Amino acid sequence: MSRIAVIGTGYVGLTTGACFAHIGHDVVCADIDADKVARLQRGEIPILEPGLDELVLNAVADGKLSFVVGAAEAAKDCEFAYLCVPTPQDDDGSADLSYVETAARQIAPVLPTGAVVVNKSTVPVGSTFVVERAMNRPDVKVVSNPEFLREGSAVHDFLHPDRVVIGTEDRDTAVKVASLFLGLTAPVIVTDPASAETIKYAANSFLATKLSFVNAMATVCEAVGANINDVVLGMGTDPRIGEKFLKPGPGWGGSCFPKDTRAMVKIAEDAGYDFEMLRGVINANELQFDLVADKVEAMCGGDLAGVKVAVWGLTFKANTDDLRESPSLEVINRLIERRAEVLAYDPAIHADLDNVSVSDSAYTAVEGADIVVLLTEWDEFRWLDMAKVADLMTTPRIYDTRNVIDVPAARRAGFEICSLGRA
Ligand SMILES: NC(=O)c1ccc[n+]([C@@H]2O[C@H](COP(=O)([O-])OP(=O)(O)OC[C@H]3O[C@@H](n4cnc5c(N)ncnc54)[C@H](O)[C@@H]3O)[C@@H](O)[C@H]2O)c1
Repeated sequence: MSRIAVIGTGYVGLTTGACFAHIGHDVVCADIDADKVARLQRGEIPILEPGLDELVLNAVADGKLSFVVGAAEAAKDCEFAYLCVPTPQDDDGSADLSYVETAARQIAPVLPTGAVVVNKSTVPVGSTFVVERAMNRPDVKVVSNPEFLREGSAVHDFLHPDRVVIGTEDRDTAVKVASLFLGLTAPVIVTDPASAETIKYAANSFLATKLSFVNAMATVCEAVGANINDVVLGMGTDPRIGEKFLKPGPGWGGSCFPKDTRAMVKIAEDAGYDFEMLRGVINANELQFDLVADKVEAMCGGDLAGVKVAVWGLTFKANTDDLRESPSLEVINRLIERRAEVLAYDPAIHADLDNVSVSDSAYTAVEGADIVVLLTEWDEFRWLDMAKVADLMTTPRIYDTRNVIDVPAARRAGFEICSLGRA
């Protein structure tokens, strides 16, 4: 078992640290956010991620996991240092590597000889060398090991990975990193750092492409009188296409797809290739937010000024509390621009946002509303008493952008209902 420092305790770092500790490693997680570290030390888990709290609390109780402030404090005795810090979008669309470089500089003076630094942050081609340069420690190897976990099922994804990708030219180091995952069943792909770094962007760009495609198909379905649910069923049964990631919605978002697709466009552009197709995928997504707002407006008679809109769902997907680049917020901004009055409800969000009041239940959110717009696919929304919802509203009207609501049942409850991708 190895001593691992995990730098950054966000969605990726905390999951990585807790899961490595769970499979037997000795893990110290570090963050620059002293409040976050203090909360973790008290046993409070700052993010919503199914199964994560239990894993963290058990690993801490077993003495396998601890939390410290500052990367250097965690890295001083470690054999491996995992960089799990943010790589936000820079002004020109490229990935901002400043957090990665800072973390590398912080750990460089304290890393023991022979330690391995592993880049788990999503970083463009060449970042392994950026970290090597920032550290200036020729005795320390730097490896790429991109992360593919999905928020909302991060623990499961880490412990049951589809694959482990390791990018290094050094076979012995690859074996060392692969050995950290002993006990997990997954194919290990060892490649050069540039390919490992590209795999992550290629995967996210492809997934975003799939979503933009199915959202565009939903628009076509509405126009020609087809049903997107049946269309994706018919498409997805072809194993070359696959049924996963073919659900239409109000657009894609989250902390990864928007920045990673833009970074991919920039990486290609810097290398002399205009990735026009991916630019189209990004533009189609922006259009999708507009189309949702257009539909709400049309359902309300063509003018949203003073219209009371209840929104169900704020997070970018179900089972997370992550609001970063949420499609729901994009749609809400467009509704507010059109002078609608928006009141929202989300099972994971309990405080008002900058421009939106947040209600404490799906029912109170719809009181006096002229329309309810369902934007995140929380399971809770499937099981609501739609007759009660209808009674609370001024006009029982619903636009379901996730195809969650049972249409005949909603109609029986008196609703005018539109579902995305269905005539
Ligand atoms: N969130 C996801 O679903 C996901 C999935 C795969 C890959 N990624 C990638 O993983 C990386 C991290 O993403 P995230 O969502 O966990 O980010 P996050 O913002 O949730 O967490 C990052 C953490 O790093 C801390 N930090 C920053 N600089 C630090 C330093 N020098 N020392 C110690 N801590 C520091 C921050 O305080 C923060 O707590 C990004 O590159 C992201 O693209 C994210």
